Amino acid sequence: MVSSQAELHAKYGGVVPEVASRRHLELVTPVIQEALADADAQLDDVELVAVTSGPGLIGALLVGVAAAKAIAWARRLPLAAVDHLHGHVASLYLQPGPLEPPFLCLLASGGHTLLLDVQSYGSKPRVLGTTIDDAAGEAFDKGARLLGLGYPGGAEIDRLARDGDPQAFDFPIARVPGLDFSFSGVKTALLYAVRGLAADELERRRADLAASYQRAIVRALVERTQQAAAQIGATTIAVVGGVAANSELRAALGGAVLAPLALCTDNAAMIASAARYAEPIPYPGYLGLDAYASTA
Ligand code: KG4
Ligand code: ZN
Repeated sequence: MVSSQAELHAKYGGVVPEVASRRHLELVTPVIQEALADADAQLDDVELVAVTSGPGLIGALLVGVAAAKAIAWARRLPLAAVDHLHGHVASLYLQPGPLEPPFLCLLASGGHTLLLDVQSYGSKPRVLGTTIDDAAGEAFDKGARLLGLGYPGGAEIDRLARDGDPQAFDFPIARVPGLDFSFSGVKTALLYAVRGLAADELERRRADLAASYQRAIVRALVERTQQAAAQIGATTIAVVGGVAANSELRAALGGAVLAPLALCTDNAAMIASAARYAEPIPYPGYLGLDAYASTA
């Protein structure tokens, strides 16, 4: 069961942390009830409670952690604290085609762009590359705002790009040293391109801008991923996270294992999947469990 706040965020052109956490508080109980009803299950059937403890928006995380603690404590159940990024990787361990480590994983979401060397189910993967500025999803979201599109931006650009020419504009691909990414340059290039067009021309060329912008981001992701695979001799490449839903990225990385569409953007199934490989905290040791906004 996923409750999306997309409509609410669209109203503000993005996620307003305070608004998001208040909404979480209102939704957490009905979402749990609906998930149980959908699964034709009761709380009595639950053997382990799993919750995301970070990284992410601290207010929203605290709501989830408090709800999880309350359910686990009331039923004397163990609790597994799951890292959000491990959750994205664990989306690959679910049906219909569960993947087995080792593999190289491109994790591209609204907050992260990571190349991970995943050696086993439970261990912390080695980070081969990350972004030095914006995340790939953030670049999509900011680009969408510049183009006057809605939120979440990635899906909107993806849709509009289908009607555009990806070669119409020449947007740069940043080549930073090593296996890192940078997306602030391409965003600035889009800003200048948008500013350089008269209102009617901008309207006419919006699809071309979207297609060219998407092409630049996708090429950066694909290039670096292939480079990383060559460097560590990875034979399996997997792609996860919200940006993994992008149709051009999926087509460009045709040989890769792609997380199923429904499991790319944030969802509870991937957290439950990751919980299977986390050390559960026995009752009542988790009462002091804290959420964290970022991985230091
Ligand atoms: O993993 P996710 O749901 O949440 C985070 O952990 O951040 O990723 C959300 C990101 C947003 O930036 C959104 O614009 C992007 O994923 N996204 C896409 C697409 N669908 C969602 N980016 C490109 N193409 C898409 N089709
Ligand atoms: Zn995520």
